[in-house]
Order: sequence, then C-alpha cells, then structure tokens
Amino acid sequence: MSGLFISFEGIDGAGKSTHIERLAQQFKAQGRAVVLTREPGGTPLAERLRQMVLNDPMDPMTEALLVFAARRDHIGQVIAPALERGDVVLCDRFTDATFAYQGGGRGFDWGVLEYLERSVQGPLQPHVTIWFDLPTVVAAKRLAGARVPDKFEAQPQAFFEQVSGAYARRLAQDPLRFARIDADQAPETVWSDVLAAVQGKGWLN
Ligand code: TMP
Repeated sequence: MSGLFISFEGIDGAGKSTHIERLAQQFKAQGRAVVLTREPGGTPLAERLRQMVLNDPMDPMTEALLVFAARRDHIGQVIAPALERGDVVLCDRFTDATFAYQGGGRGFDWGVLEYLERSVQGPLQPHVTIWFDLPTVVAAKRLAGARVPDKFEAQPQAFFEQVSGAYARRLAQDPLRFARIDADQAPETVWSDVLAAVQGKGWLN
C-alpha cells in the first residue's frame, strides 16, 4: 500500500478536530488526495453502529465487538482502498481508542482486544498516531456545558484518567508509531506541534 495513514487520538475535549481539518488542507495544498474519516464510523454501516455505541447502554464486550465490527467495514470499504490508491487517510480515532476507552475506561480485557485487533485488521496500523494528550481536569472544563454529552462525554473524570493511562500504555508498546502532543497549550502552538510531527516524518514540506 502506497498511501499514508494517520490517526488522531485523545480524551474527549482534547481538541483534535480543527487540527485534523487543517492538516487535510495542508496535504491538499501539496497535491495529495485526502480521505478525511472517523471511527466509529466512516461507512453507512459503521455510522449506524456508531449511533448505538455512543447512545445505547451495553456491556463492555458488546461495545468492543461493535467498534471492531464498524472498523472491519471501514477498513474494507474506505481505508484499504484509499491506501491502495496512494491517498492520505486522516482518521479521527482508530484502534488505540478501543484500547483506551473499552480497555482502560471500561476495564475490558486487554488481551482479548489484542486478539480482535489482529483478527480484524491484520498488520494494518497507522503510519503515525497523533495523540493529543490533555490533563483530564482541563478536558472536563472544556466539555462542561459545551453540548449535550454522549455516553462517553458524560463519564466522570476518573473514567478519563483510565482512558489516558491506556493511551500511555499503547504508546509504551509502540513508541515509534506515536507522536505525543501537549494539547494543554494555545491552539496555534498545538497546531505547530502537529505540523512539526508530520513534517518530521518527511510527509509535508
Ligand atoms: P468522537 O466524539 O471523538 O467522534 O469519538 C466518539 C466517542 O467514541 C469517543 O467518546 C470515544 C469513543 N470510542 C470508543 O469508545 N471506542 C472506540 O473504539 C472509538 C473509535 C471511539
């Protein structure tokens, strides 16, 4: 596969979205075809599964199976074809979010998640994962009153501590794939760091 696969991670409120959009513009300005997508979601089926995962009460294993089902469809329909074409795939969350939220937040079995990861995606991993690392207390302030919270956004700060801890564990398991960004800075500084991380890989001028 000749494309470029970049995923973006962080707890709710970490402020990924505007930076993902800006990065898409940068790649397009340099003549690259960009596929902007998200998880859970990115296909009609996966978007329906997203609505269930974000709104319906369910046990952690059901949650994990649904996000991996959505991911399977997303990879097959969108991500793999885009990478085959040589496009840049910018994906708002990917499998690290499952380890963070279902593994860390919900306490679901890490080894089962690793088995599902291998089964669903084989060797496919993002070339780089940009992790917007933000203290949970700052995220909680940002989220307060922002909009009607979904199932995850409504979780207490302790849940997000677990989520953050699991992101750190994923980074420790695969440090070369991760670029950790300090998201507790002014937006322009965060943006410079994001750009530098991608430029540092030689993917943008
Ligand atoms: P978003 O609000 O950034 O679009 O993400 C949707 C929510 O879904 C977010 O709270 C994280 C959660 N999520 C999981 O619990 N497991 C996953 O595998 C993914 C991709 C997201």
